[in-house]
Amino acid sequence: MCGIVGFVGQEAGALPFIFDGLKRLEYRGYDSAGIALALPEGIVLRKSKGKITLLQEVLGSLPPGPCGIGHTRWATHGRPTDQNAHPHTDCHGEIATVHNGIIENFQELRDELMADGHQFSSDTDTEVIPHLLEAYGGNQDLVLAVRRAEERLKGAYAFLAVSSHEPDKVVAVRRTSPLLIGLGQGENYLASDFSAFLAATRRAVVLENGDLAVVTPTSYTVMDSEGHSVTRPEIEVDWDIAQAERGGYQHFMLKEIMEQPEAWSDCLLGRLDGDRVVVEELGLSREEWAAVSRIQIVAAGTAYHAGLIGKALIERLARITVTVDVASEFRYQDPLVEPGTLVIAISQSGETADTLACVRMAREMGRKTYAITNTVGSTLARESDDVVYTHAGPEIAVASTKAYTTQILVLSLIALALAEIRGMPRPDIVRGLREVPALGATVLSRMDPVKAFAQKLAQNRDVFYVGRGMDWALCMEGQLKLKEISYIHAEAYAAGELKHGTLALIEEGTPVVAVITETAIVDKTLSNVLEVKARGGEVWGIVAGQLPKNIPIDHRIDLPLAHPLTSLVLAAVPLQLLAYWAAVFRGEDVDQPRNLAKSVTVE
Ligand code: M6R
Repeated sequence: MCGIVGFVGQEAGALPFIFDGLKRLEYRGYDSAGIALALPEGIVLRKSKGKITLLQEVLGSLPPGPCGIGHTRWATHGRPTDQNAHPHTDCHGEIATVHNGIIENFQELRDELMADGHQFSSDTDTEVIPHLLEAYGGNQDLVLAVRRAEERLKGAYAFLAVSSHEPDKVVAVRRTSPLLIGLGQGENYLASDFSAFLAATRRAVVLENGDLAVVTPTSYTVMDSEGHSVTRPEIEVDWDIAQAERGGYQHFMLKEIMEQPEAWSDCLLGRLDGDRVVVEELGLSREEWAAVSRIQIVAAGTAYHAGLIGKALIERLARITVTVDVASEFRYQDPLVEPGTLVIAISQSGETADTLACVRMAREMGRKTYAITNTVGSTLARESDDVVYTHAGPEIAVASTKAYTTQILVLSLIALALAEIRGMPRPDIVRGLREVPALGATVLSRMDPVKAFAQKLAQNRDVFYVGRGMDWALCMEGQLKLKEISYIHAEAYAAGELKHGTLALIEEGTPVVAVITETAIVDKTLSNVLEVKARGGEVWGIVAGQLPKNIPIDHRIDLPLAHPLTSLVLAAVPLQLLAYWAAVFRGEDVDQPRNLAKSVTVE
């Protein structure tokens, strides 16, 4: 998830517009940035690792130019370096591209292009695009070359291309990742987000999946995936710039919750092949996975909660013993980590001090370390032996949402890969995972009852969350979400533990959230729910779609029908929204809760 900007207009317009647009898009990615101007004498390129301010330092006396593209990056393939920053160019510096998303088959294309003599200068998936355009005659007819290149690219992406031979147009392609045309007077704009051009215009065209657009200073044409010319409606945007950065949502947290279907599909992209997981996409070879005899997970907060789910998945599917520890505890407990143990560190930021300390300890013990992180180039990614990325895109809100669910997806992939390697393949679950992004959209469309519940919940002082097995782990995350942003006291309990003490706290009207996706033990959970109801507790159930309608709970939030082992990802969504709306109803600062930081880089 990166930010892209394009400009085509009058002399001197491109550079200031693109630079300003990139600053506005910096929240979408901030590990490197770059600008390319298409001038008749060639592409002029400036890029830099780090934030946009560092880019400013290398712009020097760049001619402002009438046409260009820019990019602010959140790395997926290749570390955040000057070389890996976009735009990327062809061998002769005549074509430049910026790209958002993932090119799934980039390795195959890169090998093919290199065999034909193309010289690559970065580790990115993006760089195959300008070379493909060059191979298809983009220096003579950019639009035709883009059409042909598109037929070869697999993945979910959006890109912009410019050529020094046609410095009067920007060609744009949308395949899943968002892309907009902004309509100005004598100049037009392109961007991944409204906020990039709202200071210049409020008139825009939203490209649809499969669209190819050719934008000049005074016109634009759009073709669909069949190559037919199509009309897309022009809209008038009435958001202010801050609202536009949040995609029109009131808070980043809500935006990030709503982005989950897209984040899930980015996370799974290229990692499933038919009924199998593509083991090679998970950072270790088959032989290395086969040599793993135990797993030790270390993480903090939400990432720790994802680790609890990972334990259950790996143990159930692959029959490997997994222990999960809170990083701040593990590092001081003189832990026993046997030879053959793979130490998995989970961290959205990749900068959490305690988690990093655990990895350093494990390496000193001679154990293999493996990172699951959202941040390419983070300390965790660099210091671990191997790494897999969650591809959730930048998470701005302090409360982790899409990073958490993508961590669960990656752990599911690992569990399935290990199961297959150990002779216990589960094609049914792989098929179930494939459906998760679409089911996520369904879940999000049915969340009105959660808002109504949150309004009620917002008036309470204490809330309990109960579940068994992985539902208990989900409850731990649900209660953390509620606490951290709404400041309501919440606790999660293994449902069977209630009668060993906590049941004493249940009185008339006490709200209890029951998560019930573990369908194999639903009767056990329901008997605990009845204990709560008998003491007057009011039970709100988040319930797997396949469970009968007449189960004894007071209010029911139904998940769509899904494989039981994938329902848990879906169940995270109402838990997140419950916390979100409760905080909103209480008037709290949702994105920046008191006393908390997004990245805990100190002990
Ligand atoms: O960046 P990390 O995943 O290592 O962060 C760990 C925790 O600080 C983090 O998950 C925290 O609990 C969440 N922000 C809570 O929503």
